[in-house]
Formats: sequence, C-alpha cells, structure tokens
Amino acid sequence: MPLVTSTEMFKKAYEGGYAIGAFNVNNMEIVQGITEAAKEVNSPLILQVSAGARKYAKHVYLMKLIEAAIEDTDLPICVHLDHGDSFDICKSCIDGGFTSVMIDGSKYSFEENIELTKKVVEYAHARGVVVEGELGKLAGIEDDVNVSDEDAQFTNPAEVEEFVTRTGVDSLAIAIGTSHGAFKFKGEPRLRFDILEEVSKRLPNFPIVLHGASSVIPEYVEMINANGGNMPGAQGVPEAMLRQAAGMAVCKINIDSDLRLAMTGTIRKYFAEHPEHFDPRQYLSPARANIKELVKHKIVNVLGSNDKI
Ligand code: G3H
Ligand code: 13P
Ligand code: ZN
Repeated sequence: MPLVTSTEMFKKAYEGGYAIGAFNVNNMEIVQGITEAAKEVNSPLILQVSAGARKYAKHVYLMKLIEAAIEDTDLPICVHLDHGDSFDICKSCIDGGFTSVMIDGSKYSFEENIELTKKVVEYAHARGVVVEGELGKLAGIEDDVNVSDEDAQFTNPAEVEEFVTRTGVDSLAIAIGTSHGAFKFKGEPRLRFDILEEVSKRLPNFPIVLHGASSVIPEYVEMINANGGNMPGAQGVPEAMLRQAAGMAVCKINIDSDLRLAMTGTIRKYFAEHPEHFDPRQYLSPARANIKELVKHKIVNVLGSNDKI
C-alpha cells in the first residue's frame, strides 16, 4: 500500500459520521504505537509532522519510519505537515514525499491568509498533494483574555465560503474553543458547536478539522503527578464533545498532547518503580504499549474510524 492523501478518507468519514485521527509523530516508538493500534482495529490514519518534529528527528528519518510502518501494517496512511507556517516549509514537505500539508496562515489578515494559502494550494495540487487551511485562531487560556477578545478569535462563519473558494483548500481547520496543550479550559469545557454547525451549512460536504483535540486523559495526568510531575489543573476536551464533533462535519481530529502524556506518565512511573534501570528499551517498551492502547481507545471509542478500511 503506498502513502495516500486524505481525500478518500474524508469523503467516507463525512458520509459515515466519524473522524480520522491525526496523530503527531516524533520518533520510532510513537510511530509504532500508533500504527500497530490502527492495524489491530482496521483504521485509516493520518500521521502528522510538525516543524519541531522535523527539526528534532529530521524529515528523512520520519519519512523512512512511516514507510516502514506502511510496509509492516499495509495500512492506508496519509503523511501530513502540521502547522506549516510558510510556503517554503510546505514546498519542502511536498517535495519530500508528504501527501498532505497544512498552511497555517491564521496569524495573518484574511487577505494575506488567502494569498499564502492559494500559493501553497497551487504548488500542492499540481503534485497530487492536498492542503488544509486555517481560519480563526485557537483559543488561548491567558487570564486577561476577555469575552469579546475570545469572540474575535473564533472562526467567523461568514468568511469560510470566500476563503475556501478563493484558495481551493481541501479541508479547513476552524477555531471553536479548543486550544493546544494540556491546559485547555479555565473552567467548564465549552465548545462553540453553533459555529461548527453554521460553517457546515455554508460548506456542504466539506471536511472540517479540529485542532487541540486531546482529552488530557486524567489517568495519565495522575500518573505524572504521582511520580514526581507537577501538572495541576490539566484539562482537555471531553470525549463526548469529540464524538459530537465527529458526527458533524469534523473529519480530522488532531491529537498530540495525549500521546505525550501517555509516554511521559508511563516513563515516570517506570523509573519510580525501577530506579536502578538504565536500558532505554526497558522504559520505552511500556511507553510504546500504552501509546498503542491509547490510540486504540481513541479510534474505537471516540473517533469511530475502526473497521473503515
Ligand atoms: O499543534 C502543535 C503540535 O502539538 C505539535 O507540537 O510544534 O511542539 O511539535 P510541536
Ligand atoms: P493537542 O495539543 O490537543 O494534542 O492538539 C494537537 C494539535 O492540534 C496538533 O496540530
Ligand atoms: Zn494544531
């Protein structure tokens, strides 16, 4: 099975009322944990690579690891650039074999975002690569952000048709209240499903992407806190909300922090129980196994992409 784009995955996900998990990868154990999980439950996958991951592991290593995972599992896998912030990084990933890129022009004005995104789309589409754009800014959780500031950050549904038509993007990330990392909400978790609903009315059958979608699973936060860590107040998106989004127009759900928490929690616990060990294989094995369990749980109980190959 060669690498695939997300086009077919999103079409089926939209029609079937489920979502594809887009998991961030940084090293071999993470790639193996995710792909072995997807294999066991027969799920398509998006593996995504950030600029930081490319810097940490190098493009070629990540590409070869993903190629190895495809050979090992025969899964349909899409390799995606997460949060590309310039034409050059998108071009480098397209030239380097990625089948999908995100151009994140959300920090620019509407017109500048359109101009940059359109340029990436033209380059990508000419080479059979698909593009995710972004409109709106993911919520920050700074204490001094007031309600009207927060409103200004959400995606404005009135802008989405023009953005999609003028850029030609294949999917769109929108801001409805999620944020990156392990501290997502100040109080009760709240997502603007009304915005998602309005966006999907204006863009019929068009795949929407949800960033910042880790649930910050309490079991792993507790494992970290019980073994020398300090993450009071960590809180993620409740799974029920993710299921609701997956049943609507959201076809891609981005997960990174949960993988980090599972890996770090497992390794902290391992060292607390085995302070004398120093062979990386000893602590990376349970970390990889827990990533696998976590991803299986996400696919079967949250995303609903199991048995969809
Ligand atoms: O959205 C950001 C992802 O979690 C990637 O994070 O830039 O630290 O690799 P990173
Ligand atoms: P989390 O930090 O919630 O895992 O979000 C990851 C993400 O959106 C990657 O683009
Ligand atoms: Zn993101």
